[in-house]
Amino acid sequence: MKTLIVYYSQAVGNTERIANMLQESLNADMEKIDTVVPYTGSYQEISEQGHKEVNRGYMPELKPINSNLDMYERIIVATPTWWYTMAPAIHTFLANHDLSEKGVVLVHTHAGWPGHCLEDMEKLCNGAKIISKKDIKFDSDGGNNLETSMTEIEKWIESIK
Ligand SMILES: Cc1cc2nc3c(=O)[nH]c(=O)nc-3n(C[C@H](O)[C@H](O)[C@H](O)COP(=O)(O)O)c2cc1C
Repeated sequence: MKTLIVYYSQAVGNTERIANMLQESLNADMEKIDTVVPYTGSYQEISEQGHKEVNRGYMPELKPINSNLDMYERIIVATPTWWYTMAPAIHTFLANHDLSEKGVVLVHTHAGWPGHCLEDMEKLCNGAKIISKKDIKFDSDGGNNLETSMTEIEKWIESIK
């Protein structure tokens, strides 16, 4: 099955780390999503900006992606958690792409407050076959210490091979 990993990673590279693990194990193609207007400022400032954006359902414009989604039967979408839901960039991606013919794997990284991220993502994947949903926990200070065990992550990746 041809698989594309689409991910967004902003704060400390946690989601990118998980995307890289997936790519290595699944031998998938990968596309990093980025916003046209970059987030700037301190963690605190970005956190506050993110809060406002999430509250109003803001969908930032994204830089064009190179991959043609038609080429893939399965799409893995990975996001950091922003205020109990997906990052706005992933909101834009899911709202603008029809994944109804695809198998979809949803994954998010978080710092201990996963909220309703996976449910919100699933709602934007109308008609897609949701193959798996997974949350991966990093440390509660917003740092890059992986707290979900590697054994659990490897087992999960094995289950979607
Ligand atoms: C704007 C913002 C909002 C966040 N909101 C949450 C949250 O609601 N729940 C949570 O557990 N972690 C939250 N975090 C922490 C990140 O989800 C977590 O550190 C994630 O692994 C960062 O991934 P990244 O390095 O790929 O961007 C937030 C971080 C930022 C920057």
